[in-house]
Formats: sequence, C-alpha cells, structure tokens
Amino acid sequence: MVCCLNPDCQKPLNQDTHKYCQSCGTELIPLLRNRFRIIKPLGRGGFGKTYLAEDTDKLKEPCVVKQLVYQAQGSHANKLVVDLFMREAEQLQKFWANPQVPSLFAYFEEGGYLYLVQQYIEGQDLLQELEQHGCFSDTKILALLQDLLPVFSAIHERHIIHRDIKPENIMRREQDSRLILIDFGVSKQLSNSILSMAGTMVGSLGYAAPEQMESGIAQPNSDLYSLGASCFHLMTGINPWSLWRKQGYGWLEQWRAHLQQPICPLFWGKVSCDVGNHLGNFIVSHAVGDGFVLDHNAVIYSVV
Ligand SMILES: Nc1ncnc2c1ncn2[C@@H]1O[C@H](COP(=O)(O)OP(=O)(O)O)[C@@H](O)[C@H]1O
Ligand SMILES: [Mg+2]
Repeated sequence: MVCCLNPDCQKPLNQDTHKYCQSCGTELIPLLRNRFRIIKPLGRGGFGKTYLAEDTDKLKEPCVVKQLVYQAQGSHANKLVVDLFMREAEQLQKFWANPQVPSLFAYFEEGGYLYLVQQYIEGQDLLQELEQHGCFSDTKILALLQDLLPVFSAIHERHIIHRDIKPENIMRREQDSRLILIDFGVSKQLSNSILSMAGTMVGSLGYAAPEQMESGIAQPNSDLYSLGASCFHLMTGINPWSLWRKQGYGWLEQWRAHLQQPICPLFWGKVSCDVGNHLGNFIVSHAVGDGFVLDHNAVIYSVV
C-alpha cells in the first residue's frame, strides 16, 4: 500500500499500483526522500500528522515520520518557517541522544511540507496503558516520577520546554519498560515562533498550566504542572479537562477527593518538596501541607 501524504486526506491508503490518491487525487509519493516508505497515519496533532514508516536504507527499520503542516503566506514567511525548522532541528539533534527521547534521523522539506523522521518506539502510550490496566497506584506514580524527572531536568537545562505533556505523549518502551517522551521539540519550538503570529495556543486543555493558557508563555514549571495533571489523570482515570470545563482551575483545590484510594503518606516523603512544588499546584501542594518547606528558587527534579 502507498499512503497519501495530503494531511487532510480522509482515506490515505492506496494500492501500490496507483499514481494518484483514489480519495483526494493527490499525487502519491512511494518513497519520501527516496528512502522512507510511509505505512499508515498514527495520529493528527495541531501542527501536522504523524506516520508510521520504514527506512528502506536500513533494512526496512520502522521509524516515525512527522509532517509539519504550516500555512505561511508568501515566500518570505515560507523561508522563515523552513529556516526555523532546520535551526531548531539542529539544536534538538544534539539533545536527542537522550535515551528517553526518540532519536532524530532526518529532517527535510519535500512537496511543500516539512518532515522530521525519528526513531520508532515499540510500546504503548500511558493513556493506552491506563485504559488497559486501570488506574496507577501511588507506587507506580512514584516510579514514573523517578524515571521521568531526570528527563525533564535534561531538557529544561537546554532551555527546551515540551509544552504538551499528557499521558498520550509519554510512551512505555516495551523492551525495558522505560518511559519515553514523545511529541515535542521541533514543532513546539517552531510553533512558538510562527504561531505567536497566528495567536495559536500550544498545549492541551486540562493539562496546560494557567500561565500557558492565559498568555501562551510556557516555563519549565509549566511542563511539571502538566506532568502533575497527567499523574492525576493516571491515578484517578479522570481527564483533568472534564474537571477544568466545569470548574476551571478551581478543581485543583479538591483533587484528592477524586482518588479512589488515599495516597500513602510515605509517598510525599519521597517526593522532593521542590518537585512537589513544581508538579502542579495540587499533587505537590500536599507535600507542603505535610510539613515540607518549599524552596521556590531551587529546581530539583528528583525523588528519593
Ligand atoms: N517515536 C515514536 N514511536 C512510536 N510511536 C510514536 C512515536 N511518536 C509518536 N508515536 C505514536 O503516534 C501518536 C501521535 O504522535 P505524536 O508525536 O504524539 O503527534 P500528535 O499528537 O501531534 O499527533 C502517538 O500518540 C504515538 O502513539
Ligand atoms: Mg501527541
């Protein structure tokens, strides 16, 4: 099969023999960059589409191709978009040696779209895990924090802010059960610059921190807020968006009321107070309640 690369195509899968998409008429590209064969769409986000693909130069190794869809008007804006994409991708390439972030294989422009090719992670995202295995225990949440906080520390040290942390954007690698952050980097950094022109928000409702919602400005803490909101979702099975819709950020006051099982007091002893502080106003505000002193200046991304 050949997958149509028109991001709006409703039925993108076509027989190999077709030259044009039978659904939308777009010319089909059997190999992107003469190398990557697109197999099927994996998802559609605010700024583009994500596809499963295989690398024909590497014995058909699976990879993920992200297509950036932008609507820059005029050739100057167009050039700006491409330049930004390339520059940010270059910056991120260095960082993407982190084993808990998919590696970057290639980035390029073709057929009027920008593409980013990254390592395929075998596994499932945490929303799927929640749906399959039920709510996370406090022990499981603690393990999640132990695994992920160093990754946040590493990305923030490099002044990269993910801006869209939520269970769907955290994958558990099948091979070793480690957690991997996906769906960030180039498009988010890029969108920040371009979309500030268009006034578009980056982030997901319910998980995005108040400052990110209000002004579009995200800080490292905003990621930790979203991580806190994700932990809440994973512990309770309740999407914070549903609470936010009814009560705005007022829901944070009573987040504990939604827990099916009280959190073991030892949990708070293990979460560093600073992490508590930054992991949203809720999960961690209770660390304060339990007698921890917060240091607003230090950022310690660790649990003991
Ligand atoms: N590197 C990857 N390895 C395996 N699956 C991935 C990878 N990146 C994304 N996916 C899958 O594709 C889905 C959509 O990709 P994502 O990067 O989150 O883009 P978006 O949310 O913008 O559509 C993810 O939820 C995940 O299931
Ligand atoms: Mg995503």
